[in-house]
Amino acid sequence: MDFILYEVEGAVGTITINREKALNALNSQVLDELSATLDAVDLETVRCLILTGAGAKSFVAGADIGEMSTLTKAEAEAFGKKGNDVFRKLETFPIPVIAAVNGFALGGGCEISMSCDIRICSDNAIFGQPEVGLGITPGFGGTQRLARLVSPGMAKQLIYTARNIKADEAYRIGLVNAVYTQEELLPAAKKMAAGIAMQAPIAVRNAKKAINDGLQTDMDQAIVIEEKLFGDCFETEDQKAGMGNFLEKDKEKKLKVVPFQNK
Ligand code: CAA
Repeated sequence: MDFILYEVEGAVGTITINREKALNALNSQVLDELSATLDAVDLETVRCLILTGAGAKSFVAGADIGEMSTLTKAEAEAFGKKGNDVFRKLETFPIPVIAAVNGFALGGGCEISMSCDIRICSDNAIFGQPEVGLGITPGFGGTQRLARLVSPGMAKQLIYTARNIKADEAYRIGLVNAVYTQEELLPAAKKMAAGIAMQAPIAVRNAKKAINDGLQTDMDQAIVIEEKLFGDCFETEDQKAGMGNFLEKDKEKKLKVVPFQNK
């Protein structure tokens, strides 16, 4: 791997996009390496992922403008599909993914953060979809995910004006859940990831699937999706241990529920 770093601490994996000279811009190689990294995550042991960018300046400054500049219509569609396929893999990854946005999150950078389950950022983060200023639309899911995450009106304003926003505004419109200093960001992401990793893993996975799949459909079908995933949990050891500890009224033990299934 030239452009992706991957390290595991306990049950938390951290993926770092490592193309600092180009502010971690996404070219085809970065996308291929990210896809291969996700394929190689050991889901037996890893229960939560963090995605971040190398360096103190940028999370991801977008898709690679140099690579895109000479594309034909067909090649551009294929490049869009390449990005969309990787981002969808991230979005539907069985375990939660936290984006720790440590600087510029522009174009494809904002888009990849929106493919993660949770976004937190540092106070120097800048978000935006500047594509119309380059003569293109967002191409890695930005037109779809921004409208779903914030509101159609706010997404349209940001995309049509190509205006970048700072961390505090991203927080105000609900694009990120929290803002930290640069030093605090990764520790905060790791703390959150560890907190997720200590919960019952099948329940966490099922909750992710219920939320994601439910959002794709109407409420009548969505609650059926939830019912099935809720029911599945009752075949797990974690449900028996978790509820058993509660009913025993053993506070110490209740805090010590150790999930032991991860498939
Ligand atoms: N693609 C390719 N290279 C990029 C890049 C990108 N998106 N963003 C930055 N870089 C490169 C620069 O070319 C520069 O390389 P050199 O040192 O070789 O010249 C290096 O990163 C550092 O960048 P700057 O010198 O520009 O740094 P700066 O601090 O002056 O500005 C910035 C930072 C405001 C983020 C500026 O780099 C910038 O505007 N980048 C482009 C942001 C952008 O438009 N992103 C959207 C791309 S389109 C897209 O993503 C489409 C899609 O949806 C699929």
